[in-house]
Amino acid sequence: MIMGAPLILAIDQGTSATKCALIDAGGRFISRGTAPVGETHPQPGWVEQDADAIWQSVQTAVAACLAGHEPSAVIAVGFATQRESLLLWDRATGRPISPVISWQDQRGAAICDALRSDDTEHLVRTRSGLPLDPMFSAVKARWLLDHYDPDRVRSRDGMLCLGTIDSWLLSRFSGDHLIEAGNASRTQLLDVRAVDWDDDLLSLFGIPRICLPRVVASTGPFPSVGGLPPLSDGTPIHAVMGDSHAALFGHGAFSPGQVKATYGTGSSVMGLIAEPDDLQAGLCLTIGWMTDRPAYAAEGNIRSAGSALRWMAGILGIDVPVLVSMGLAARSDGVVLVPGFGGLGAPWWDRDAVGLLTNLTLGTTREAIARAAVESVVQQVADVVEAIRHSVGTVTELFVDGGPTRTDGLMQMQADRLGCTLLRAVEPELSALGVAHLAGLSAGLWDRAALDALPRPRDRFSAVATNLPSDSRHWRDAIARASSRRI
Ligand code: G3P
Repeated sequence: MIMGAPLILAIDQGTSATKCALIDAGGRFISRGTAPVGETHPQPGWVEQDADAIWQSVQTAVAACLAGHEPSAVIAVGFATQRESLLLWDRATGRPISPVISWQDQRGAAICDALRSDDTEHLVRTRSGLPLDPMFSAVKARWLLDHYDPDRVRSRDGMLCLGTIDSWLLSRFSGDHLIEAGNASRTQLLDVRAVDWDDDLLSLFGIPRICLPRVVASTGPFPSVGGLPPLSDGTPIHAVMGDSHAALFGHGAFSPGQVKATYGTGSSVMGLIAEPDDLQAGLCLTIGWMTDRPAYAAEGNIRSAGSALRWMAGILGIDVPVLVSMGLAARSDGVVLVPGFGGLGAPWWDRDAVGLLTNLTLGTTREAIARAAVESVVQQVADVVEAIRHSVGTVTELFVDGGPTRTDGLMQMQADRLGCTLLRAVEPELSALGVAHLAGLSAGLWDRAALDALPRPRDRFSAVATNLPSDSRHWRDAIARASSRRI
Protein backbone atom coordinates (compact mmCIF):
# COMPACT_ATOMS: atom_id res chain seq x y z
CA MET A 1 0.00 0.00 0.00
CA ILE A 2 1.36 3.45 -0.94
CA MET A 3 1.34 5.92 1.95
CA GLY A 4 1.20 9.63 1.14
CA ALA A 5 1.69 11.50 -2.13
CA PRO A 6 3.74 9.66 -4.76
CA LEU A 7 7.48 10.39 -4.84
CA ILE A 8 10.37 9.66 -7.19
CA LEU A 9 13.74 8.66 -5.72
CA ALA A 10 16.62 9.91 -7.89
CA ILE A 11 20.14 8.57 -7.38
CA ASP A 12 23.11 10.35 -8.97
CA GLN A 13 26.18 8.14 -8.62
CA GLY A 14 29.02 10.53 -9.51
CA THR A 15 32.80 10.39 -9.33
CA SER A 16 33.24 12.07 -5.96
CA ALA A 17 29.88 11.38 -4.29
CA THR A 18 26.54 9.65 -4.57
CA LYS A 19 23.68 12.11 -4.21
CA CYS A 20 20.04 11.18 -3.74
CA ALA A 21 16.89 13.23 -3.89
CA LEU A 22 13.20 12.69 -3.30
CA ILE A 23 11.09 14.57 -5.81
CA ASP A 24 7.35 15.09 -5.54
CA ALA A 25 4.69 15.22 -8.24
CA GLY A 26 5.19 18.98 -8.51
CA GLY A 27 8.84 18.40 -9.46
CA ARG A 28 10.09 19.80 -6.12
CA PHE A 29 13.03 18.40 -4.13
CA ILE A 30 11.70 17.45 -0.73
CA SER A 31 14.72 15.61 0.66
CA ARG A 32 18.39 15.02 -0.17
CA GLY A 33 21.08 12.61 0.94
CA THR A 34 24.72 12.34 0.01
CA ALA A 35 27.67 10.03 0.63
CA PRO A 36 31.26 10.64 -0.52
CA VAL A 37 33.20 8.23 -2.73
CA GLY A 38 36.99 8.06 -2.70
CA GLU A 39 39.48 7.39 -5.46
CA THR A 40 43.07 6.20 -5.47
CA HIS A 41 45.98 6.93 -7.79
CA PRO A 42 48.18 3.81 -7.68
CA GLN A 43 50.46 5.12 -10.46
CA PRO A 44 50.77 8.40 -12.34
CA GLY A 45 47.79 8.67 -14.70
CA TRP A 46 45.89 5.83 -13.00
CA VAL A 47 42.61 6.55 -11.18
CA GLU A 48 40.72 3.74 -9.46
CA GLN A 49 37.61 3.40 -7.31
CA ASP A 50 36.25 0.56 -5.21
CA ALA A 51 33.09 -1.05 -6.60
CA ASP A 52 31.83 -2.13 -3.16
CA ALA A 53 32.45 1.37 -1.78
CA ILE A 54 30.38 2.80 -4.64
CA TRP A 55 27.53 0.39 -3.85
CA GLN A 56 27.78 1.27 -0.13
CA SER A 57 27.69 4.99 -0.95
CA VAL A 58 24.43 4.41 -2.80
CA GLN A 59 22.99 2.59 0.22
CA THR A 60 24.15 5.35 2.59
CA ALA A 61 22.84 8.18 0.43
CA VAL A 62 19.46 6.47 -0.07
CA ALA A 63 19.07 5.87 3.69
CA ALA A 64 19.98 9.51 4.44
CA CYS A 65 17.57 10.80 1.83
CA LEU A 66 14.66 8.65 3.03
CA ALA A 67 15.16 9.39 6.75
CA GLY A 68 11.89 10.82 8.05
CA HIS A 69 9.98 9.96 4.87
CA GLU A 70 7.62 7.14 4.12
CA PRO A 71 9.53 4.71 1.82
CA SER A 72 6.33 3.20 0.47
CA ALA A 73 5.49 6.58 -1.13
CA VAL A 74 8.35 6.00 -3.60
CA ILE A 75 6.69 4.79 -6.78
CA ALA A 76 9.77 4.84 -9.01
CA VAL A 77 13.55 5.01 -8.82
CA GLY A 78 15.84 6.69 -11.37
CA PHE A 79 19.62 6.30 -11.53
CA ALA A 80 22.11 8.65 -13.17
CA THR A 81 25.70 7.48 -13.14
CA GLN A 82 29.23 8.53 -13.96
CA ARG A 83 30.07 7.21 -17.39
CA GLU A 84 32.93 5.29 -19.08
CA SER A 85 34.32 3.94 -15.77
CA LEU A 86 34.56 0.14 -15.96
CA LEU A 87 35.06 -2.92 -13.79
CA LEU A 88 35.13 -6.69 -14.05
CA TRP A 89 33.14 -9.05 -11.82
CA ASP A 90 32.57 -12.77 -11.43
CA ARG A 91 29.24 -13.80 -12.95
CA ALA A 92 28.67 -16.66 -10.50
CA THR A 93 29.38 -14.80 -7.25
CA GLY A 94 28.66 -11.23 -8.36
CA ARG A 95 31.89 -10.20 -6.59
CA PRO A 96 34.18 -7.59 -8.20
CA ILE A 97 37.42 -9.03 -9.56
CA SER A 98 39.00 -5.69 -10.41
CA PRO A 99 38.90 -2.13 -9.15
CA VAL A 100 36.76 0.34 -11.06
CA ILE A 101 39.01 1.92 -13.68
CA SER A 102 37.82 5.51 -13.62
CA TRP A 103 36.88 7.49 -16.72
CA GLN A 104 39.77 9.79 -15.71
CA ASP A 105 42.30 6.94 -15.91
CA GLN A 106 44.88 7.21 -18.69
CA ARG A 107 46.49 3.75 -18.44
CA GLY A 108 45.06 2.74 -21.80
CA ALA A 109 47.06 5.41 -23.63
CA ALA A 110 49.71 2.92 -24.79
CA ILE A 111 46.98 0.55 -26.04
CA CYS A 112 45.44 3.41 -28.03
CA ASP A 113 48.83 4.27 -29.51
CA ALA A 114 49.45 0.65 -30.50
CA LEU A 115 46.02 0.45 -32.18
CA ARG A 116 46.25 3.83 -33.86
CA SER A 117 46.31 3.91 -37.65
CA ASP A 118 44.23 5.79 -40.20
CA ASP A 119 42.07 2.69 -40.69
CA THR A 120 41.43 1.97 -37.01
CA GLU A 121 40.77 5.61 -36.20
CA HIS A 122 38.27 5.74 -39.04
CA LEU A 123 36.59 2.50 -37.93
CA VAL A 124 36.35 3.55 -34.30
CA ARG A 125 35.11 7.03 -35.14
CA THR A 126 32.47 5.99 -37.69
CA ARG A 127 31.04 3.04 -35.74
CA SER A 128 31.22 4.25 -32.15
CA GLY A 129 30.93 7.99 -32.84
CA LEU A 130 33.92 8.61 -30.55
CA PRO A 131 37.59 9.37 -31.13
CA LEU A 132 40.08 6.68 -30.08
CA ASP A 133 40.98 7.81 -26.56
CA PRO A 134 41.76 6.17 -23.20
CA MET A 135 38.86 8.00 -21.53
CA PHE A 136 36.33 5.64 -23.11
CA SER A 137 35.65 2.15 -21.76
CA ALA A 138 36.97 0.06 -24.68
CA VAL A 139 40.66 0.34 -23.83
CA LYS A 140 39.86 -0.10 -20.14
CA ALA A 141 38.06 -3.35 -21.07
CA ARG A 142 41.10 -4.44 -23.06
CA TRP A 143 43.42 -3.63 -20.17
CA LEU A 144 41.20 -5.44 -17.63
CA LEU A 145 40.95 -8.62 -19.70
CA ASP A 146 44.67 -8.53 -20.57
CA HIS A 147 45.45 -8.44 -16.83
CA TYR A 148 42.73 -10.65 -15.31
CA ASP A 149 42.10 -13.11 -18.15
CA PRO A 150 44.99 -12.81 -20.61
CA ASP A 151 44.13 -16.00 -22.52
CA ARG A 152 40.41 -15.03 -22.54
CA VAL A 153 39.41 -18.53 -21.37
CA ARG A 154 37.16 -17.42 -18.49
CA SER A 155 35.71 -14.55 -20.46
CA ARG A 156 34.90 -16.76 -23.46
CA ASP A 157 33.25 -19.24 -21.07
CA GLY A 158 30.95 -16.50 -19.83
CA MET A 159 32.40 -16.49 -16.32
CA LEU A 160 33.31 -12.78 -16.32
CA CYS A 161 31.17 -9.67 -16.59
CA LEU A 162 32.41 -6.30 -17.79
CA GLY A 163 30.26 -3.38 -16.80
CA THR A 164 29.98 0.35 -16.36
CA ILE A 165 28.67 1.82 -13.10
CA ASP A 166 25.02 1.58 -14.20
CA SER A 167 25.62 -2.11 -15.05
CA TRP A 168 27.26 -2.71 -11.70
CA LEU A 169 24.44 -1.11 -9.70
CA LEU A 170 21.77 -2.95 -11.70
CA SER A 171 23.60 -6.24 -11.18
CA ARG A 172 23.48 -5.66 -7.39
CA PHE A 173 19.70 -6.03 -7.50
CA SER A 174 19.21 -9.25 -9.40
CA GLY A 175 22.44 -10.38 -11.00
CA ASP A 176 21.07 -9.25 -14.38
CA HIS A 177 23.84 -8.00 -16.67
CA LEU A 178 22.40 -4.90 -18.37
CA ILE A 179 23.60 -1.53 -19.62
CA GLU A 180 21.54 1.53 -20.50
CA ALA A 181 21.90 2.69 -24.11
CA GLY A 182 23.32 6.16 -23.33
CA ASN A 183 25.99 4.67 -21.07
CA ALA A 184 26.68 1.99 -23.69
CA SER A 185 27.25 4.71 -26.28
CA ARG A 186 30.20 5.96 -24.18
CA THR A 187 32.00 2.61 -24.15
CA GLN A 188 33.40 2.87 -27.69
CA LEU A 189 32.26 -0.72 -28.32
CA LEU A 190 28.75 0.13 -29.49
CA ASP A 191 27.63 0.63 -33.07
CA VAL A 192 25.93 3.85 -32.08
CA ARG A 193 23.48 3.78 -35.00
CA ALA A 194 22.49 0.10 -34.63
CA VAL A 195 22.51 0.34 -30.79
CA ASP A 196 24.28 -3.02 -30.56
CA TRP A 197 27.82 -4.13 -29.79
CA ASP A 198 29.91 -3.92 -32.94
CA ASP A 199 31.79 -7.09 -33.89
CA ASP A 200 34.63 -5.20 -35.61
CA LEU A 201 35.19 -3.03 -32.55
CA LEU A 202 35.00 -6.07 -30.24
CA SER A 203 37.61 -7.79 -32.37
CA LEU A 204 39.84 -4.68 -32.51
CA PHE A 205 39.86 -4.36 -28.71
CA GLY A 206 39.89 -8.13 -28.04
CA ILE A 207 36.62 -8.25 -26.09
CA PRO A 208 34.42 -11.39 -26.26
CA ARG A 209 30.78 -10.30 -26.72
CA ILE A 210 29.63 -12.66 -23.96
CA CYS A 211 31.41 -10.50 -21.32
CA LEU A 212 29.33 -7.49 -22.18
CA PRO A 213 25.93 -6.54 -20.76
CA ARG A 214 22.70 -6.52 -22.72
CA VAL A 215 21.87 -3.04 -23.99
CA VAL A 216 18.47 -1.75 -22.86
CA ALA A 217 16.55 1.50 -23.28
CA SER A 218 16.88 4.27 -20.69
CA THR A 219 13.43 3.30 -19.41
CA GLY A 220 14.22 -0.39 -19.11
CA PRO A 221 12.75 -2.83 -18.39
CA PHE A 222 15.10 -3.01 -15.39
CA PRO A 223 15.14 -5.31 -12.37
CA SER A 224 13.41 -3.81 -9.35
CA VAL A 225 15.32 -2.51 -6.36
CA GLY A 226 16.65 -4.80 -3.64
CA GLY A 227 19.02 -4.17 -0.76
CA LEU A 228 18.48 -0.42 -0.47
CA PRO A 229 16.80 -0.13 2.95
CA PRO A 230 14.54 1.48 3.98
CA LEU A 231 13.28 1.34 0.38
CA SER A 232 11.01 -1.66 -0.07
CA ASP A 233 12.48 -4.47 -2.15
CA GLY A 234 10.60 -4.60 -5.42
CA THR A 235 10.33 -0.82 -5.88
CA PRO A 236 10.56 -0.42 -9.66
CA ILE A 237 13.44 1.32 -11.42
CA HIS A 238 11.96 3.41 -14.21
CA ALA A 239 14.98 5.25 -15.63
CA VAL A 240 18.77 4.93 -15.94
CA MET A 241 20.90 7.57 -17.67
CA GLY A 242 24.46 8.82 -17.94
CA ASP A 243 24.87 11.76 -15.55
CA SER A 244 25.65 14.33 -18.23
CA HIS A 245 22.72 13.10 -20.34
CA ALA A 246 20.40 13.35 -17.34
CA ALA A 247 21.53 16.96 -16.78
CA LEU A 248 20.51 17.79 -20.37
CA PHE A 249 17.09 16.21 -19.72
CA GLY A 250 16.85 18.07 -16.40
CA HIS A 251 17.28 21.39 -18.20
CA GLY A 252 14.19 20.48 -20.23
CA ALA A 253 16.29 20.37 -23.40
CA PHE A 254 14.32 17.89 -25.47
CA SER A 255 14.73 19.35 -28.98
CA PRO A 256 17.59 19.35 -31.48
CA GLY A 257 19.62 22.54 -31.20
CA GLN A 258 19.20 22.88 -27.43
CA VAL A 259 22.65 22.77 -25.80
CA LYS A 260 23.91 22.63 -22.22
CA ALA A 261 27.29 22.95 -20.57
CA THR A 262 28.00 21.20 -17.28
CA TYR A 263 31.02 22.78 -15.57
CA GLY A 264 32.94 20.65 -13.11
CA THR A 265 36.44 19.26 -12.79
CA GLY A 266 36.25 19.04 -16.57
CA SER A 267 33.23 20.11 -18.59
CA SER A 268 30.69 18.42 -20.80
CA VAL A 269 28.98 20.42 -23.51
CA MET A 270 26.08 18.48 -25.04
CA GLY A 271 23.26 19.23 -27.44
CA LEU A 272 20.62 17.09 -29.12
CA ILE A 273 20.92 16.65 -32.88
CA ALA A 274 18.25 15.65 -35.37
CA GLU A 275 20.30 12.99 -37.19
CA PRO A 276 23.39 11.05 -36.11
CA ASP A 277 25.40 12.38 -39.05
CA ASP A 278 27.06 15.61 -40.10
CA LEU A 279 28.90 15.98 -36.84
CA GLN A 280 32.05 18.09 -36.59
CA ALA A 281 35.15 15.91 -36.24
CA GLY A 282 35.96 17.26 -32.77
CA LEU A 283 32.64 16.20 -31.30
CA CYS A 284 31.43 12.85 -30.01
CA LEU A 285 28.25 11.23 -31.23
CA THR A 286 26.38 10.01 -28.17
CA ILE A 287 22.99 8.55 -27.38
CA GLY A 288 21.47 11.10 -25.02
CA TRP A 289 18.72 8.72 -23.97
CA MET A 290 16.63 6.01 -25.57
CA THR A 291 12.91 5.39 -25.06
CA ASP A 292 11.22 3.94 -28.15
CA ARG A 293 14.17 5.17 -30.26
CA PRO A 294 17.52 6.82 -29.53
CA ALA A 295 17.76 10.59 -29.07
CA TYR A 296 21.20 11.46 -30.46
CA ALA A 297 23.43 14.14 -29.01
CA ALA A 298 26.69 15.83 -29.91
CA GLU A 299 29.07 16.08 -26.99
CA GLY A 300 32.41 17.72 -26.41
CA ASN A 301 34.36 16.81 -23.27
CA ILE A 302 36.83 19.30 -21.85
CA ARG A 303 39.41 17.66 -19.63
CA SER A 304 40.36 20.56 -17.37
CA ALA A 305 38.02 23.35 -16.30
CA GLY A 306 37.51 23.53 -12.51
CA SER A 307 40.76 21.57 -12.16
CA ALA A 308 42.61 24.34 -14.06
CA LEU A 309 41.21 26.90 -11.59
CA ARG A 310 42.24 24.70 -8.65
CA TRP A 311 45.72 24.21 -10.09
CA MET A 312 46.26 27.92 -10.62
CA ALA A 313 44.85 28.79 -7.18
CA GLY A 314 47.33 26.31 -5.69
CA ILE A 315 50.24 27.84 -7.62
CA LEU A 316 49.27 31.35 -6.45
CA GLY A 317 48.59 30.13 -2.90
CA ILE A 318 45.01 31.41 -2.81
CA ASP A 319 41.53 29.88 -2.71
CA VAL A 320 39.62 29.25 -5.93
CA PRO A 321 36.93 31.90 -5.22
CA VAL A 322 39.68 34.47 -4.59
CA LEU A 323 41.40 33.45 -7.83
CA VAL A 324 38.17 33.76 -9.80
CA SER A 325 37.26 37.20 -8.46
CA MET A 326 40.83 38.38 -8.97
CA GLY A 327 40.77 37.11 -12.55
CA LEU A 328 37.35 38.54 -13.34
CA ALA A 329 38.49 42.01 -12.25
CA ALA A 330 41.84 41.94 -14.10
CA ARG A 331 43.19 42.24 -17.66
CA SER A 332 45.13 39.36 -19.12
CA ASP A 333 47.66 41.51 -21.02
CA GLY A 334 47.76 38.72 -23.61
CA VAL A 335 48.68 36.01 -21.09
CA VAL A 336 47.01 32.69 -21.98
CA LEU A 337 46.76 29.47 -20.00
CA VAL A 338 46.17 26.34 -22.08
CA PRO A 339 45.25 23.74 -19.44
CA GLY A 340 46.51 20.78 -21.45
CA PHE A 341 47.22 18.73 -18.32
CA GLY A 342 47.14 15.22 -19.76
CA GLY A 343 46.42 16.56 -23.26
CA LEU A 344 43.41 18.37 -24.69
CA GLY A 345 39.90 16.95 -25.15
CA ALA A 346 37.21 18.37 -27.42
CA PRO A 347 37.36 19.77 -29.98
CA TRP A 348 41.07 19.00 -30.38
CA TRP A 349 41.37 15.44 -28.99
CA ASP A 350 45.14 15.70 -28.73
CA ARG A 351 46.47 13.54 -25.93
CA ASP A 352 50.02 14.73 -26.57
CA ALA A 353 49.16 18.43 -26.33
CA VAL A 354 50.97 20.16 -23.48
CA GLY A 355 49.92 22.65 -20.85
CA LEU A 356 51.15 26.18 -21.58
CA LEU A 357 51.27 29.61 -19.97
CA THR A 358 52.23 32.01 -22.74
CA ASN A 359 53.06 35.64 -23.46
CA LEU A 360 54.73 36.24 -20.11
CA THR A 361 56.86 39.36 -19.63
CA LEU A 362 58.75 40.72 -16.66
CA GLY A 363 55.71 42.93 -16.14
CA THR A 364 53.20 40.05 -15.92
CA THR A 365 51.16 40.24 -12.72
CA ARG A 366 49.46 37.63 -10.54
CA GLU A 367 46.18 39.21 -11.60
CA ALA A 368 46.89 38.65 -15.29
CA ILE A 369 47.74 35.00 -14.64
CA ALA A 370 44.53 34.59 -12.61
CA ARG A 371 42.64 36.15 -15.51
CA ALA A 372 44.24 33.67 -17.92
CA ALA A 373 43.01 30.76 -15.77
CA VAL A 374 39.45 32.09 -15.74
CA GLU A 375 39.52 32.77 -19.48
CA SER A 376 40.79 29.23 -20.15
CA VAL A 377 37.49 27.83 -18.86
CA VAL A 378 35.43 30.28 -20.93
CA GLN A 379 37.44 29.81 -24.12
CA GLN A 380 37.36 26.02 -23.98
CA VAL A 381 33.58 25.92 -23.51
CA ALA A 382 33.23 28.45 -26.34
CA ASP A 383 35.35 26.29 -28.69
CA VAL A 384 33.04 23.33 -28.13
CA VAL A 385 29.82 25.35 -28.38
CA GLU A 386 31.10 26.75 -31.67
CA ALA A 387 31.78 23.23 -32.97
CA ILE A 388 28.22 22.27 -31.96
CA ARG A 389 26.92 25.41 -33.69
CA HIS A 390 28.48 24.14 -36.91
CA SER A 391 26.56 20.89 -36.47
CA VAL A 392 23.15 22.12 -35.31
CA GLY A 393 22.98 25.66 -36.72
CA THR A 394 22.46 28.57 -34.38
CA VAL A 395 22.71 28.23 -30.61
CA THR A 396 20.98 31.27 -29.15
CA GLU A 397 20.71 29.97 -25.60
CA LEU A 398 23.06 27.82 -23.57
CA PHE A 399 21.79 25.96 -20.48
CA VAL A 400 24.48 25.80 -17.78
CA ASP A 401 24.93 23.88 -14.55
CA GLY A 402 27.67 22.75 -12.19
CA GLY A 403 29.66 24.30 -9.33
CA PRO A 404 31.62 26.97 -11.27
CA THR A 405 28.38 28.33 -12.77
CA ARG A 406 27.46 29.79 -9.34
CA THR A 407 29.91 32.65 -10.05
CA ASP A 408 27.85 35.30 -11.86
CA GLY A 409 30.91 37.06 -13.32
CA LEU A 410 32.14 33.86 -14.95
CA MET A 411 28.72 33.25 -16.52
CA GLN A 412 28.58 36.84 -17.75
CA MET A 413 32.00 36.42 -19.37
CA GLN A 414 30.82 33.18 -20.99
CA ALA A 415 27.66 34.86 -22.35
CA ASP A 416 29.71 37.76 -23.68
CA ARG A 417 32.26 35.47 -25.33
CA LEU A 418 29.55 33.37 -27.01
CA GLY A 419 27.24 36.25 -27.84
CA CYS A 420 24.26 34.25 -26.59
CA THR A 421 22.06 34.04 -23.50
CA LEU A 422 23.04 31.69 -20.69
CA LEU A 423 20.26 30.02 -18.68
CA ARG A 424 21.56 28.82 -15.33
CA ALA A 425 19.51 26.23 -13.47
CA VAL A 426 18.68 27.41 -9.96
CA GLU A 427 18.56 23.76 -8.86
CA PRO A 428 22.18 22.54 -8.64
CA GLU A 429 21.43 18.80 -8.90
CA LEU A 430 20.47 18.65 -12.56
CA SER A 431 21.43 15.00 -13.12
CA ALA A 432 19.18 13.86 -10.26
CA LEU A 433 16.40 16.11 -11.52
CA GLY A 434 16.72 14.85 -15.10
CA VAL A 435 16.64 11.16 -14.24
CA ALA A 436 13.72 11.80 -11.86
CA HIS A 437 11.86 13.48 -14.70
CA LEU A 438 12.42 10.52 -17.02
CA ALA A 439 11.51 8.04 -14.26
CA GLY A 440 8.30 9.96 -13.51
CA LEU A 441 7.42 10.06 -17.19
CA SER A 442 8.04 6.33 -17.53
CA ALA A 443 6.05 5.56 -14.37
CA GLY A 444 3.09 7.61 -15.60
CA LEU A 445 3.38 10.22 -12.86
CA TRP A 446 3.58 12.85 -15.62
CA ASP A 447 2.59 12.83 -19.25
CA ARG A 448 4.69 14.79 -21.72
CA ALA A 449 2.65 17.99 -21.32
CA ALA A 450 2.89 17.82 -17.52
CA LEU A 451 6.64 17.20 -17.76
CA ASP A 452 7.05 20.28 -19.95
CA ALA A 453 5.07 22.30 -17.43
CA LEU A 454 7.19 21.35 -14.40
CA PRO A 455 8.99 24.32 -12.81
CA ARG A 456 12.60 24.84 -13.95
CA PRO A 457 13.66 28.13 -12.35
CA ARG A 458 16.63 29.74 -14.14
CA ASP A 459 18.88 32.78 -13.92
CA ARG A 460 19.51 34.60 -17.20
CA PHE A 461 22.74 36.09 -18.43
CA SER A 462 22.38 38.09 -21.64
CA ALA A 463 25.37 38.94 -23.81
CA VAL A 464 26.10 42.60 -23.13
CA ALA A 465 29.87 42.62 -23.78
CA THR A 466 30.74 43.90 -20.31
CA ASN A 467 33.47 41.37 -19.63
CA LEU A 468 34.74 39.90 -22.86
CA PRO A 469 37.80 37.71 -22.60
CA SER A 470 40.91 39.01 -24.33
CA ASP A 471 41.29 38.82 -28.07
CA SER A 472 40.65 35.19 -29.05
CA ARG A 473 43.63 35.31 -31.45
CA HIS A 474 45.93 34.93 -28.42
CA TRP A 475 43.96 31.86 -27.40
CA ARG A 476 44.13 30.34 -30.91
CA ASP A 477 47.89 30.97 -31.09
CA ALA A 478 48.45 29.37 -27.71
CA ILE A 479 46.33 26.32 -28.64
CA ALA A 480 48.37 25.91 -31.83
CA ARG A 481 51.59 26.01 -29.78
CA ALA A 482 50.27 23.55 -27.20
CA SER A 483 49.15 21.10 -29.85
CA SER A 484 51.27 18.17 -30.92
CA ARG A 485 49.80 18.49 -34.40
CA ARG A 486 49.41 21.34 -36.84
CA ILE A 487 46.02 22.93 -36.14
O1 G3P B 1 32.19 11.21 -18.39
C1 G3P B 1 32.45 11.18 -17.01
C2 G3P B 1 31.31 11.84 -16.28
O2 G3P B 1 30.14 11.13 -16.48
C3 G3P B 1 31.64 11.97 -14.82
O3 G3P B 1 30.80 12.89 -14.25
O4 G3P B 1 29.90 14.30 -12.49
O5 G3P B 1 30.91 12.12 -11.90
O6 G3P B 1 32.39 13.96 -12.64
P1 G3P B 1 31.01 13.34 -12.73
